[in-house]
Amino acid sequence: MPKLQGFEFWSRTLRGARHVVAPMVDQSELAWRLLSRRHGAQLCYTPMLHAQVFVRDANYRKENLYCEVCPEDRPLIVQFCANDPEVFVQAALLAQDYCDAIDLNLGCPQMIAKRGHYGAFLQDEWDLLQRMILLAHEKLSVPVTCKIRVFPEIDKTVRYAQMLEKAGCQLLTVHGRTKEQKGPLSGAASWEHIKAVRKAVAIPVFANGNIQCLQDVERCLRDTGVQGVMSAEGNLHNPALFEGRSPAVWELAEEYLDIVREHPCPLSYVRAHLFKLWHHTLQVHQELREELAKVKTLEGIAAVSQELKLRCQEEISRQEGVKPTGDLPFHWICQPYIRPGPREGSKEKAGVRSKRALEEEECGAEVLSKNKQKKQLRNPHKTFDPSLKPKYAKCDQCGNPKGNRCVFSLCRGCCKKRASKETADCPGHGLLFKTKLEKSLAWKEAQPELQEPQPAAPGTPGGFSEVMGSALA
Ligand SMILES: Cc1cc2nc3c(=O)[nH]c(=O)nc-3n(C[C@H](O)[C@H](O)[C@H](O)COP(=O)(O)O)c2cc1C
Repeated sequence: MPKLQGFEFWSRTLRGARHVVAPMVDQSELAWRLLSRRHGAQLCYTPMLHAQVFVRDANYRKENLYCEVCPEDRPLIVQFCANDPEVFVQAALLAQDYCDAIDLNLGCPQMIAKRGHYGAFLQDEWDLLQRMILLAHEKLSVPVTCKIRVFPEIDKTVRYAQMLEKAGCQLLTVHGRTKEQKGPLSGAASWEHIKAVRKAVAIPVFANGNIQCLQDVERCLRDTGVQGVMSAEGNLHNPALFEGRSPAVWELAEEYLDIVREHPCPLSYVRAHLFKLWHHTLQVHQELREELAKVKTLEGIAAVSQELKLRCQEEISRQEGVKPTGDLPFHWICQPYIRPGPREGSKEKAGVRSKRALEEEECGAEVLSKNKQKKQLRNPHKTFDPSLKPKYAKCDQCGNPKGNRCVFSLCRGCCKKRASKETADCPGHGLLFKTKLEKSLAWKEAQPELQEPQPAAPGTPGGFSEVMGSALA
């Protein structure tokens, strides 16, 4: 059968999907996709897979795709990051029998994508992108699709989308944020950009960004004219978003844990999901937050979730008839998480926040990193529990250890920059950043006997700068 294209591909293969779960590294795994599908999602993406590793490593293929196959998990789009046409196509050929399309990630704005030269960092390499899409369109038995971020300029975004369409892209997801809009700088996505792309191309378009509830989905479809709407964070906090329901958190947590028992996945994924689902309740029951970070088994996680449920139910029975205060519903109801913006009143510019600070915010500091999980497997007796690590005061700017006596509450590196910028001293580090001249003036002011007579003219032997220079040397 010839390969379906564009709108035909969307309406037949993707069954006209309007409610789409986004690709999410470590979070859109099979169990989560099945849960989301049971609650209104009509199309899901795998997490982004690394094309080169996928080609090279049979275990990676097995763990991330071949063992995640399930008939209810269709339609499914497999997403890759890649920067080489041959590698992208080799990876896609190895994946195409397990999915309905192959997506190229052109939206990842993280430092890791910058270092790896993929995601949004390819958005200015139109020639390379054309070659990647052309080759994939020619060689694959399933359609190739792209997920992009917008440029600040609407007309450039439109030309970008048209270039991808012309190369052979059969469906485009437009995340209405620029690559600079990430972490605390995320802000709102621009539906104006998405609407302009929708009007300018003849392939189906999905909108991504600003979707927190079913009303947002309907408004986005109406305002932009797109074929479908994709949600990431909204879906993580309320997997029943596409049903237009906000169930009690434990309902979905228990259902998800049951699916995980049937379709196991790394414990770190489960923990991260439960941190998001229980986000608002964990603000109230902080000690269970630590417990959830510490437990080492699926049943341990289930027990913490059960305890959270009991506490919520006790609260409900005590407060019968009471309405929630403030803007948010009761904390035990699945609800959106509004990402905090750059800190108000802070002198720190959000744009210069450190990579570590951003990563902790985006990926959650609660779970062990993949590297640490691997180290733990190799060395099961060593403790990697973050809560047992020695606690140290953090630098206000970057999260590194703060200097003991630093007057700015910064680490050595940030203190050095700040002190040199403000020409100020930090006795904590014993660093002197005033220029010699400024130092000497300050010193001279403190020594009245040195103020008279006036210094000789510059350049004269025994002049002011020379005397003071040697005095300070
Ligand atoms: C935990 C997490 C993991 C993500 N991983 C991916 C990914 O693998 N590929 C991708 O294209 N985007 C990824 N994203 C970005 C989302 O797909 C989406 O574009 C972005 O979050 C904006 O949508 P939202 O406003 O609905 O959250 C990820 C987002 C989150 C929150």
